[in-house]
Amino acid sequence: MSHRRGSLSSNDLFSREIDIEICLKTLKIYQKLEGDVNCVVWDASLVLAKYLETICQEKPDFLSGTRVLELGSGLGVVGLTAATLGAQVTLTDLPEALPLLRLNISENKQKIGSMGGYAIAEVLEWGDNNSDIHKQEFDMVVLADCVYYEDAVEPLIQTLQNLNYTILKKPTIYLTQEMRDTEVQKRLWNDFYEKLTDNFHVQKIPEDEQHMNYRSPDIVLLKINRKL
Ligand SMILES: C[S@@+](CC[C@H](N)C(=O)[O-])C[C@H]1O[C@@H](n2cnc3c(N)ncnc32)[C@H](O)[C@@H]1O
Repeated sequence: MSHRRGSLSSNDLFSREIDIEICLKTLKIYQKLEGDVNCVVWDASLVLAKYLETICQEKPDFLSGTRVLELGSGLGVVGLTAATLGAQVTLTDLPEALPLLRLNISENKQKIGSMGGYAIAEVLEWGDNNSDIHKQEFDMVVLADCVYYEDAVEPLIQTLQNLNYTILKKPTIYLTQEMRDTEVQKRLWNDFYEKLTDNFHVQKIPEDEQHMNYRSPDIVLLKINRKL
């Protein structure tokens, strides 16, 4: 028998469990059998989520009360992990991604709340400089596997540039990206990276500082800060 979850039918969904070892919680993430890139969990999101967990192992308060913005959340693995580690997270994506993202938030809401965290989802299309997100203050921005088509490179750079920065408050950005082997993808990444380094300091996090089971030579992890 099929059940409906809002506009989503349970026949189209399957779930994946992701353990957050340091707080002994398990996220349940619904994916869709068929759909666009926002319907599956990408490896780059696991690398970033597990990196946040690795930092929290060293510094247990790293995310407590931290205001986090996630761009291109997809199913929300990174943002939901941050929220379960105590952060106040705004997960964002295109309008069509929001029903499944919101289902994943409500599925994990109780665990997140029990850890003092919070998660909501809002629409944010990259390059939309009128979005209210640009007026809000964040301490951290996270994004996984968002550099993958040409038309999005410039709008994504614009969104990163137009976040709410002040002299005293500059959110730190953590980005993961899978390095795909096609000429188009390499050119895209080089273009994005060049534009990024015009306005941001970029530091590559070495693999040996990442989670020992969730790292890969094919996935780059960057810590990024605005030049001011
Ligand atoms: C490859 S998926 C990665 C999803 C998720 N971060 C992960 O790693 O599992 C890229 C995400 O970017 C979102 N996206 C693509 N273009 C976008 C745009 N112009 N504005 C906002 N989000 C966009 C897609 O909907 C999708 O969720």
